[in-house]
Amino acid sequence: MYRTHTCGELRIEHINQSVTLSGWVQKVRNLGGMTFIDLRDRYGITQLVFNEETHKELCEQTAELGREYVIQIKGQVAERSNKNNKIPTGEIEILVEELTILNSSELPPFTIEDETDGGDELRMKYRYLDLRRNPVRENLVLRHKIAFEVRNYLNEEQFIETETPVLIKSTPEGARDFIVPSRMNEGQFYALPQSPQVFKQLLMVSGFDRYFQIVKCFRDEDLRADRQPEFTQIDCEMSFVDQEDILNTFEGMTKHLFKTIKNVDIDYTFPRLSYADAMKYYGSDKPDTRFEMKFVDLTADVKGSEFKLFNEAEYVGGICAESCATYTRKQLDKLTDFVKKPQIGAGGLIYIKFNADGSVKSSVDKFFSAEELKAIGAKFNAKDGDLVLILAGALNKTLNALCELRLEMGSQLGLRDKNKFSPLWVVDFPLLEWDEDAERFHAMHHPFTSPKAEDMDKLDSEPGQVRANAYDLVINGVEIGGGSVRIFNDELQQKMFKLLGFTEEEAENQFGFLMNAFKYGAPPHGGVAFGFDRLVSLFAGLDSIRDVIAFPKNNSGRDVMIDSPSPVAKEQLDELQIALNMKEKE
Ligand code: AMO
Repeated sequence: MYRTHTCGELRIEHINQSVTLSGWVQKVRNLGGMTFIDLRDRYGITQLVFNEETHKELCEQTAELGREYVIQIKGQVAERSNKNNKIPTGEIEILVEELTILNSSELPPFTIEDETDGGDELRMKYRYLDLRRNPVRENLVLRHKIAFEVRNYLNEEQFIETETPVLIKSTPEGARDFIVPSRMNEGQFYALPQSPQVFKQLLMVSGFDRYFQIVKCFRDEDLRADRQPEFTQIDCEMSFVDQEDILNTFEGMTKHLFKTIKNVDIDYTFPRLSYADAMKYYGSDKPDTRFEMKFVDLTADVKGSEFKLFNEAEYVGGICAESCATYTRKQLDKLTDFVKKPQIGAGGLIYIKFNADGSVKSSVDKFFSAEELKAIGAKFNAKDGDLVLILAGALNKTLNALCELRLEMGSQLGLRDKNKFSPLWVVDFPLLEWDEDAERFHAMHHPFTSPKAEDMDKLDSEPGQVRANAYDLVINGVEIGGGSVRIFNDELQQKMFKLLGFTEEEAENQFGFLMNAFKYGAPPHGGVAFGFDRLVSLFAGLDSIRDVIAFPKNNSGRDVMIDSPSPVAKEQLDELQIALNMKEKE
């Protein structure tokens, strides 16, 4: 038997028991006469004592041990004279009687401690060592617990977990596909699924009624803190439901997770915000609603003013930062630099300070009287002591810049507390999105999303104005999930493909199987997919989903540990009839 207990298990009530423990050497301290070793496993740390007086040979053996050696010991549990109340086993220690070295270890490239000295790349290269560290492991334990509770909840709700294939056909879902050559079908390729979308719809046609799957999805897109090329979805679909049924079911799941994982009771119905209002008030379809600071549109109010920028701008709008009239010149200059950063792209920042003494100071004093500035302030309900910040320019760009400014002010004012959760549904997304470059429409969610019944008559005349039965779950400014009620009629589905610029032949080639399936009694259905990694990282209070994935990729999509992607042998390519056509590197 390798162990009778784990390294996190022994307490004062185990005193005088003979025990066997196995684990990794965290630290060796030789204090002359006594050697202390911290023995670590997944469950905790236990102090081992080797006494030179009683066990001389054993003590000498410890000289061989280094960090991360794997050992087994037998000994007696004793009360510690010098108690450590920082760890659960801190009241006891083991008086060691036998030591077996199970394996040696090279000196690890960074310290395996909560606060490590290893940089990001090094820790990614030795991820298996990084995973020995408590904070990293705890994130994965949290991930396991959430997955477990998801299964509990959905099982109770009659959902059936069903696997769908990973080698599929390329489908248009917005991102690029990863493709896999087929040896047995010369010149042909599989694609890895961006999501199991069409399969879950087919399962509804099959009468499964309620499907879910915790499933890997693959998208070849540019990476960010909340994006990985392979990520995990909690993917779900339901039959005989309307949008409200779906939202209620998954609002229920979200509340269940908050309760069971974080012990947070959410006793209200998640607010529903239309896409149009989300853009109008927050300049984003994933607003962080932990704080107010909503946009005020001033475009109409400042038309005709002497200030040319305001007069000519497609959009003028701002936010009111409470109690910030004390912002110094330097702070305001920094904010101006922030909005002028190329990725934000505002031309400049206009401020109005409503000072505590009732006076008004603004960067556009020249063009507006104090009365006029106060009238603008009234639009924001600005009080004495508040600061109004205004941006002007092209509509979409300015809304986006104002969104960034709002988030920045939220951060500066400490309004984005990681322990506060503000969930909402963003609903009524547009069905289509115009692509300027390609001069055609894209599906905003995906091509299987149904248009709203009340907008159906605009499908031919004003397709850009049609709203969809599509929704996103947003928490603290993160898009946690998205879904829609689907089209379940082959004629409407064909019409949708046509709107998206597919010829009949292309639609038939790519989606013939789905439209065919719809001819055999497809039930009304709809669903949602949660970004599982995003959900876990939100619950863990982290900014990057990398930290909640056991073996993540870096920002260039590389796994630096296994060194992938990598070239393959010429024979492998020959077998696939693939010739590389890369420009020779200098
Ligand atoms: P969608 O494309 O909105 O919907 O994806 C659902 C959720 O998956 C997460 N997500 C990601 N997480 C990490 N890395 C990525 N690269 C990544 N891309 C997306 C987000 C997102 O909200 N089939 C539809 C769902 C449906 O209609 O039922 C779909 O995949 O949290």
